[in-house]
Formats: sequence, structure tokens, C-alpha cells
Amino acid sequence: MAEKDVLKIGMLGLGTVGSGVLQILTQNGEEIRQKLGTRLEVKRIAVRDTKKLRPVTVDPELLTDQADHVIDDPEIDIIVEVMGGVDGARAAITRALENGKYVVTANKDLMAQHGVELLAIAKNQGKNIYYEASVGGGIPLVRPLKQCLAANRILKLMGIINGTTNYILTQMSCAGKEFSEALAEAQAQGFAEADPSSDVEGRDASYKLAILASLAFSSKIEMSDIYVEGISDVKLRDIRYAQELGYAVKLLAVGEEGSDGLKLRVHPTLIPLKHPLASVANEFNAIFLEGDAVGEVMFFGRGAGSLPTGSAICADIIEAARSIKHQVENGIVEATFVTKRVVPFVNQSSRFYLRLKVKDEPGVFAKLATAFGDARVSLDMIIQKRSDAETAEIVLVTHGVGEGNFAVAIAALKEMDAVRSINSILRVIE
Ligand code: HSE
Repeated sequence: MAEKDVLKIGMLGLGTVGSGVLQILTQNGEEIRQKLGTRLEVKRIAVRDTKKLRPVTVDPELLTDQADHVIDDPEIDIIVEVMGGVDGARAAITRALENGKYVVTANKDLMAQHGVELLAIAKNQGKNIYYEASVGGGIPLVRPLKQCLAANRILKLMGIINGTTNYILTQMSCAGKEFSEALAEAQAQGFAEADPSSDVEGRDASYKLAILASLAFSSKIEMSDIYVEGISDVKLRDIRYAQELGYAVKLLAVGEEGSDGLKLRVHPTLIPLKHPLASVANEFNAIFLEGDAVGEVMFFGRGAGSLPTGSAICADIIEAARSIKHQVENGIVEATFVTKRVVPFVNQSSRFYLRLKVKDEPGVFAKLATAFGDARVSLDMIIQKRSDAETAEIVLVTHGVGEGNFAVAIAALKEMDAVRSINSILRVIE
């Protein structure tokens, strides 16, 4: 078959990310043509409202409000799905693959929940789905895990993979704002959505962790395998205590593979100030990986935004175009993933940070120590400060302890008359 001079792209969606894709394909079109040896042409774009003003110049002739006009167009080689949502995108991608097209998507919710099924359809069709932009925006992660680090057994991955929460925590830590004020600032700056719940409650990060962990550990991951806790209960007071103890507070996504199975979790975490992830500020993302051969590797950059995410999507389009040009059937590595044992969260262990208020009277410390000792919880650091004439505020950091044991200690503290309130519980990583 003769090589095509031009490969045609159909887009589903032209919002913030889609506009970035179009801008990059337009402004770097010649650069891409030279690298690829083939021209890329956007043939059709499905949008909800063809009359809407766009942040990018677009020929109105390209626009349609019928997704079928894109998916079923026999001239289109590559479908770029940037419309978001799960059910509609899943149906559209399935049909595009069945129509023999390659697919590029930035849709983390979809790939985390239905990636295995869609990749199997792609494999059956001898095509592929590329999803570099679904995690870490412009930071290369999917391809490095699939290719550059493929010879390693990945022992651990740890990442700041949500820019909204990292911006909020940075504002709390550096500008002394409480959560709600920092969230309002993030919304005003355009880093947080009007409905920020998926970001601040950790769901966005958990979808991204599912994608990264599946690649890192070559395993199918269910969303229910991941423990998720967001940052809405983190107080400025805890960030200040953490700093006093030598830690920053970050929303971390953590995946580990041990002899007992996979451990997957997203939660606000105290991380030593000297750890490279502690200095990742504002909307930036960073992912820290440990491979048995390569050792420690860190990726850093912008995890969202029109052009950074567009950069990853355009790279995927170029990759899809290379496959078409050279008529190579991409081995879809995900098709060989197995289901690995996942350690239930209650059986995992951690160090804990705890802030509580107690009556300031003789014997209280001894009672606390007994409750911890009875639950086999060993204490590492303690700060006590006077709160008012009658109460003291105590901050404790434990040594590593099982989640179950720590819960037993907390239940015992709650029963104690001397304990006025348990204000914060956070996990600590060394
Ligand atoms: N809302 C995400 C974030 C970007 O704040 O990182 C898209 O995944």
C-alpha cells in the first residue's frame, strides 16, 4: 500500500485541551511534518455548539455538532477524544476503533475505569489507543513506563499528580491561608474548577494513580483497590506543625509492590522537607519512581493546561501516525496485564501524625502512652503546647504501625475523659 502524504485527524471536542491541540498542530505543523515525513490535517471537529467563540482560530467549515460525522468519516485515520465524560466517550471510542481508526485520548476517568476493555477492542482491531495526556498533562509518563523503564521491576511510585490540590497546599503553606481561602484563590487563578470536588477529594489523583500503577506493576487495577482521602480537612495549623517537625504536607499518590501484593493509596502526607517532592510547588506535578535496575527517577512539569496537555496529545497523534505510516501493529502491552493481589488498606502500615487536645492535668500523658502501648503503637516525636488555661494541644508522630492498630489506639483515645478532641490524623512518609 502506498504511503499517504497526509494523515487526517478527527477531533471530538474543542474545549481548553482541544484548543491547545489545534494550536500546536497549526503553529508547529511544519516542524511535525519534517519529523514525521507526513502532513497531519485536522479534517473535522465535533463540538456541542458550532457557533461558540473559541480561544483558537478555527475554520468554521471543520465544525459539526454530530460526533458521527467524525467517527464514521472513512477518510479520517486518527480520532482525538477530548470531550471528556465517561459513557459518551466510551461509546465514541469503541465505534472509532471498530471503524478501524487509531485513537488518542486525554480521558483519565475513562482509561482508569474502562481502559482494559477499550485496549482489548483496539488489539482485536490491530489498532491502538494512546493516552499519554491522561496523567501528568505534559509530563511524559505513560511512554517512559511502557518503553524506557520496561526492563525494570518498579518497586515504588510516589507522585504529586493533582495540580489543584498542590496549588492549594502551597498557598496554605507559603501564604498562610486556610483551605477555603486557598481554594478560592485557586479558582480565581483558573487552577481549580467551579466544582472542585474531584480534585480536593482525591478522586482525580486516584484515577491517575490507577493508570500509572497499572503500567508500573503490569497489573489490572480496579478503582476499589485504591484508598482515597482528600485535602479538605487539612488545616493550616497542621501544615505549621509539620514544618516545625521538618515536613511538608502534600497530596501524594503512592503505589508499591511488595511480596504481599500491591499497596495503592492517595492521601495528604507529611513528607520530609529534604525530599525532592516537598519542593514541588503550586500547580506543578512530579512523579518519583524507583526501579530495581534504574534506581530513583523523577519526572516534573505541568500536569494540566491547554498547551502542556496538548503537547502530550500531539505526541500521541505523531506516534499513531508513525504506526499508520510504517504499518506496524503496536503490541499493546496492557493486553498482557494480570490481576495481582492487592493488600487491603486496613492491613497496610504507615507512620502517623496526630493532633489532639487534652485536659492539662496530672496523669494525662501516662494515659495516652498506655492507650498507644496497648495497641502496639510506638511514638517517635511529641510536641506539647499550652492551648488555654485548662487544655493542652499535643502533636504526636508514630513509628510505622498497622492501620488497624492505629485505629484501635484512636478508638481508645476517643473513650478517654481526658481527651477533649482529636483534631487531625495524617500519614507520614520518610
Ligand atoms: N484537575 C486536574 C489537576 C487536571 O488539578 O491536576 C486535570 O487532570
